Amino acid sequence: MLIAYLAKCVTLSETQEKIQQQNKKMPEGHMQIRPELAHFLSFLLRLTKPKRILELGTYTGFSALTFAEATDETCKIVAIDRNQEWTKLAKRFWAEAGVSDRIQLIYGDAPTVLQQLIADSIEPFDFIFIDASKKHYERYVNFCLELLAPGGFIAVDNVLWDGEVLNPESTDLNAHYIAAFNEVMFARTDITVSIVPLDDGVMLIQKI
Ligand SMILES: C[S@@+](CC[C@H](N)C(=O)[O-])C[C@H]1O[C@@H](n2cnc3c(N)ncnc32)[C@H](O)[C@@H]1O
Repeated sequence: MLIAYLAKCVTLSETQEKIQQQNKKMPEGHMQIRPELAHFLSFLLRLTKPKRILELGTYTGFSALTFAEATDETCKIVAIDRNQEWTKLAKRFWAEAGVSDRIQLIYGDAPTVLQQLIADSIEPFDFIFIDASKKHYERYVNFCLELLAPGGFIAVDNVLWDGEVLNPESTDLNAHYIAAFNEVMFARTDITVSIVPLDDGVMLIQKI
């Protein structure tokens, strides 16, 4: 009931709506960020006006499209995913929305791709969205802090894992990975973190 209420202030673009309909037909469709989180991140992007965005975990393209639609045509997005089948759909939707020229998709295993981007001294990113393998979250943040531009911020999805992070007896391995990741982030003194309990919980991270 509360989710339906939160959704009252959310509107989706035509292509966001199409992707959501597509995802509803897929067994993994729940992986897409929920509209209220997309709306919140769009709000932050309209405030902060990033010129470069990095995304880890693209699936069928909903979140990357959201970022493209919340920024102007000078903002470039690099999206990393290892699944060609799902991202083929993403590319089709981005083309439909007219944002393909702003999104570069890199296929590969995210930790390896991130190391390569650092080795290549790629221009830093103003906003980084982490939504790939939960097991690697701490590594992702460490790499992403190296790739973050001054004043930039990182958003990490699913940090509440449906409340399972509070259950030490959970049979879900991801709950343990995320709970451990969260504790490490809370204890760090080189970053500041804030968790917004929208969708499955999103952690915002800034370098101090
Ligand atoms: C939760 S889904 C992303 C959902 C997407 N952000 C959205 O809102 O629709 C996770 C994605 O991360 C990708 N992924 C998981 N582990 C990965 C890894 N180690 N390297 C690259 N991609 C990975 C999966 O293929 C999947 O498409």
